[in-house]
Amino acid sequence: MTDRNPPDVGGTYDRIAAEYSKSIELPLRVHFDEPSLLKLAKPLDGKSVLDLACGDGHYTRLVKQAGADEALGIDLSREMVALAEAEERRTPIGCRYQMGNASNLDLGRTFDLVVSVYLLNYARTKAELLDFCDTIRRHLKPGGRFVGLTLNITLDPAHYADGKHYGVWFTGPAQPQEGDPLTVHIANTDGSTASFDNYYLTPETYAQAFAEAGLQGFAWRPLQVSKEGLAAFPPGYWDSALAYPITIGVEARRGA
Ligand SMILES: C[S@@+](CC[C@H](N)C(=O)[O-])C[C@H]1O[C@@H](n2cnc3c(N)ncnc32)[C@H](O)[C@@H]1O
Repeated sequence: MTDRNPPDVGGTYDRIAAEYSKSIELPLRVHFDEPSLLKLAKPLDGKSVLDLACGDGHYTRLVKQAGADEALGIDLSREMVALAEAEERRTPIGCRYQMGNASNLDLGRTFDLVVSVYLLNYARTKAELLDFCDTIRRHLKPGGRFVGLTLNITLDPAHYADGKHYGVWFTGPAQPQEGDPLTVHIANTDGSTASFDNYYLTPETYAQAFAEAGLQGFAWRPLQVSKEGLAAFPPGYWDSALAYPITIGVEARRGA
């Protein structure tokens, strides 16, 4: 267990908290990321959920509203946690938040489900990914599940920038190697922008790290568009997101 982290990730999000938070309104996030995460996470009724890298608490609230008994969000960034807490004060639904590092977190308790949305893509090495996986396993009850969304490192690099017309895309080397930065770009509908680095690791490294951390059944899961999303946009609008998704689902579980 270490406290390795890419340089000042928390500080980056302290600076771009408002712009990142705004991106949650983009159709790609509302109609693609959200329903996909919920489909992976359900059934949620009565479950205790730990949301690692919760950001402004958007997904923490989502799982709580979808039936979770308890939802605790953890994030490195003080500003992101402040946004999450402010939303809970505005509209109390019983979510809790605290600052913490998913690399070495030890809450001293376990949950039915651990979720993370855009955390794994911060690992620059297998060792860093193992730290995240170890945190996930230590916080899961026996038989508990992990589900997440992460930057789609299985995508053909020729299609990294295809998400541009949805307002979220990434750039990186034509042939990425272990640990290479992949820069995520966000263009919000109000004209505000943000960019930040995530990191490439091979799909094999992901499978190995999950297995070595004692998590079983590691699998990539495709995302899907909600019925509302299909109805709200012209035919063809989602084709590129479905064919070349910049985000991919992940699933694993702790043995019983
Ligand atoms: C792209 S944002 C995603 C936030 C939220 N999950 C969402 O999808 O709206 C990535 C978040 O990961 C957090 N983060 C990165 N590394 C972390 C770590 N080691 N421990 C906890 N949070 C981390 C950042 O502070 C940031 O809030």
